[in-house]
Amino acid sequence: MQMRLKDKVALITGGVGDIGRSIAEEFLRQGAAVVLFDLGDELLAATAAELAAGDRLSVVSGDVRNLTDLEKAAATARERHGRLDILVTCAGVLEHMPIDKLSMANWDRVIGVNLTGTFVACKAAAPIMKASGGGRIITISSVGGRTGRPHVGADYAASKGGVIGLTMLLAKELGQYGITVNSIAPGPIGGRMLDQLPPENIKALIGTACIGRLGRPLDIARAATFLASDEAEWITGEILDVNGGVYI
Ligand SMILES: NC(=O)c1ccc[n+]([C@@H]2O[C@H](COP(=O)([O-])OP(=O)(O)OC[C@H]3O[C@@H](n4cnc5c(N)ncnc54)[C@H](O)[C@@H]3O)[C@@H](O)[C@H]2O)c1
Repeated sequence: MQMRLKDKVALITGGVGDIGRSIAEEFLRQGAAVVLFDLGDELLAATAAELAAGDRLSVVSGDVRNLTDLEKAAATARERHGRLDILVTCAGVLEHMPIDKLSMANWDRVIGVNLTGTFVACKAAAPIMKASGGGRIITISSVGGRTGRPHVGADYAASKGGVIGLTMLLAKELGQYGITVNSIAPGPIGGRMLDQLPPENIKALIGTACIGRLGRPLDIARAATFLASDEAEWITGEILDVNGGVYI
C-alpha cells in the first residue's frame, strides 16, 4: 500500500491527547516523522514508548502559549528530521460553565490555550515552512465554534470561533508561499475531553447526530491525513466538519 505522508515531517501540539495521539499514529503509519508537543515530560515519554517509532518520533514538552517553547519544537523538527512540512494544532482545553459561573480565570485559560496557543504554533511553524517553499497547517476547531453548540461554554465557543477566523486569514496570507491552512471542526469525540460532561449530556449529544454514535479520534486522524497529503494540495481556507452530522 502506498504511504500517503512518506518522508514528510509533522509537528503535533497536544500530541499526547486522544486526538493528537491518534493523528500521530496515523501519520507514522503513513510514513511521516513526527514531533509530539505537549505539557509534561512523563506523559510524552510514555506515549513515545507506546508508539515505538524509533528515530521517526521526537518529543518536546512545553506550554502552547509560549512562543519560545513552540520555536524549540519547530527547530527540533528541522534539526532532527530535516524539515517541517505539517503542523497540526490539537492542544486544547474545555471549561463548560454558564456565563454567570465562568470566571475571568476560566476565560483567560481557555482563550489562552485554544486560541492564543493555535496562533503561537502557527507563528513558530510558518517561517520554516515559508523558507522551505511550502507546508500544511491544520488547526483543530470544533462544532462548538461553528454553531455555539449548547453546553460547551462561551469561552470554548469563542476560542474555537477565533481559530476558524485565524485559519481563514492565514490561508490568504500564506497561500503565496505554498502553505495551505485548513481547520477540522470535530463533533463530539469519545475520550478524556468528553468524559468531563455529565452522562446525560453525552446521551443527548449522540441523539443529535445523523450517524448515531460518538466520533472516534481515528475519524479525525483520517481527515487530518487527507488534508496533509498531496491529494489536498488545492484545498485551503476550508473548515472541514467531521461530526457525524451534529449541527447544533
Ligand atoms: N474531544 C472532543 O469531543 C472534541 C470536539 C471538538 C474539538 N475538540 C478539540 O480537539 C483538540 C484535541 O482534543 P482531545 O479530545 O484530544 O482532548 P485531550 O484533552 O485528550 O487532549 C488535549 C491535549 O492538549 C494538551 N494541552 C492542554 N493545555 C496545553 C498547553 N497549555 N500546552 C500544551 N499542551 C496543552 C493536553 O495536555 C492534552 O494532551 C482540542 O483542541 C479540542 O478542543 C475535541
